[in-house]
Amino acid sequence: MLKYISNKGGVEPVDFETAILDGFAADGGLYVPQTLPAISAEQLEKWKNLTYLELAFEILSLFIDRSIISAAELKQLLTTAYAPFEKREIIPLHPLKSRKNTYIMELFHGPTISFKDIGLAFLVNLVNFFLQRKDQHLTLIVATTGDTGPATAYFSAGKSNLDAWVLYPKEMITQEQERQMTSLQHANIHPFAVSNCPEGGDDLDAVISKLYANQNFKEKLQLSSVNSINWGRVMMQTVHYFYAYFQVVDQIGEKINLSVPSGGFGNLCAGALAREMGLPIKNLLAANNQNSCLERIFSTGKFSKEALINTQSSAIDILIPFNFWRYLYFKVGGDTQRIKAWMDEFSASGTLQFDPQVFASYSQGFLANSVTDEQTLALIKEIYTGEGYLLDPHAAVGLSASDTLREQLGTEKLVVLATAHPAKFPETIRRALNGAELPLAATHHSIESAKKYSQKVHLCEYQVLEPALIHAMQSNWELTKGQ
Ligand SMILES: Cc1ncc(COP(=O)(O)O)c(C=O)c1O
Repeated sequence: MLKYISNKGGVEPVDFETAILDGFAADGGLYVPQTLPAISAEQLEKWKNLTYLELAFEILSLFIDRSIISAAELKQLLTTAYAPFEKREIIPLHPLKSRKNTYIMELFHGPTISFKDIGLAFLVNLVNFFLQRKDQHLTLIVATTGDTGPATAYFSAGKSNLDAWVLYPKEMITQEQERQMTSLQHANIHPFAVSNCPEGGDDLDAVISKLYANQNFKEKLQLSSVNSINWGRVMMQTVHYFYAYFQVVDQIGEKINLSVPSGGFGNLCAGALAREMGLPIKNLLAANNQNSCLERIFSTGKFSKEALINTQSSAIDILIPFNFWRYLYFKVGGDTQRIKAWMDEFSASGTLQFDPQVFASYSQGFLANSVTDEQTLALIKEIYTGEGYLLDPHAAVGLSASDTLREQLGTEKLVVLATAHPAKFPETIRRALNGAELPLAATHHSIESAKKYSQKVHLCEYQVLEPALIHAMQSNWELTKGQ
């Protein structure tokens, strides 16, 4: 049976179900499969014409033992998860007119119109499936820079085995993203708007880690998370790399480039693992905004936390790319002792310099670039006025980074991941288009509908977040569970 271990090596191997329901490993590490499946060219050949759902079934079957989820159950889970997506193909690709062999992969056709729907549609349904089977209840807690929160809330809403606590830095996400969370009236959804977070979403992650470390509280409330800390998110996101590959190549074996607007490295970690498994990817481009955490890692070998800069691509205003540790585990031959030493050193000092050998090994096949707001805004305008296609600020970061690094990328086909719909960022779009009237493409019916509902939300200052959360979560637990 395929087992999962912590990349810090401090817990006994567990099965898939335990890894998913735990979220975090108890030693503060990230769950990884003990071995990654290898996918041959023959296998890729067989998969090349599959639909997204068929492909997801094949790839997930490599990570999930049939004794835990039968083939019929997995198919049903996938069908249910993606039923609310608005495009039959789930992830359409849009070829750009102005750049040769360049495709925008639209990952935003789920119900909350960001790529977080791709991972969370499946993961939340999967968690709920396990809980119903065991007749158990779980308290999910996630921090969001504006997209994980809406998707977690949407897919958890009304599920009686789950409560979802969704924390967001109040002044640092758009009103549209906020409405997506606060307009849900379901009793099991608890948005928490946190004011004055000096480091945005990273501050909220730090408080969640403290709650996890509070053993009594964690056990009583059955605390878990579906942030990209959860293996299920990364596993599910490997699928869209394979899918994109099959959509653009002329023949199996051809190599492609992908540019990924990145913050926490969850999405890129999935791409890197897809390549480790055998997908022919030449370069993965880590596209940062001016919070250049990944550019530092991939250009200089330095993993460090700097002061937060608020940008127009606010969903990637992220300081710590936590999933990098998961990827690194596979680049150092599964050496958990080294990973533990690095993770501990970084927690203690906030900075870490990898030695040249490690740097060379993990950075092979990676490029990185930091994009300024001026570049982001100018590119949104250029592509909209030039070819009538509206990029969201994050997709613009991805495309701008690839424009800058065109020469290093080479002439292979390029897929840029569009991780959100522009309707989530109307102010930025307006600014990019010089205050002109918002185009129809910058609106979405789901956002218009969310604006009509009254808002349900806890408000709190960052300074008192931990006690306020404990109080609110405990009260809710006692009220609903009578304990
Ligand atoms: C729109 C958007 N793009 C990109 C990202 C970055 O994804 P990751 O944290 O997996 O690098 C996020 C979330 O963090 C996001 O919301």
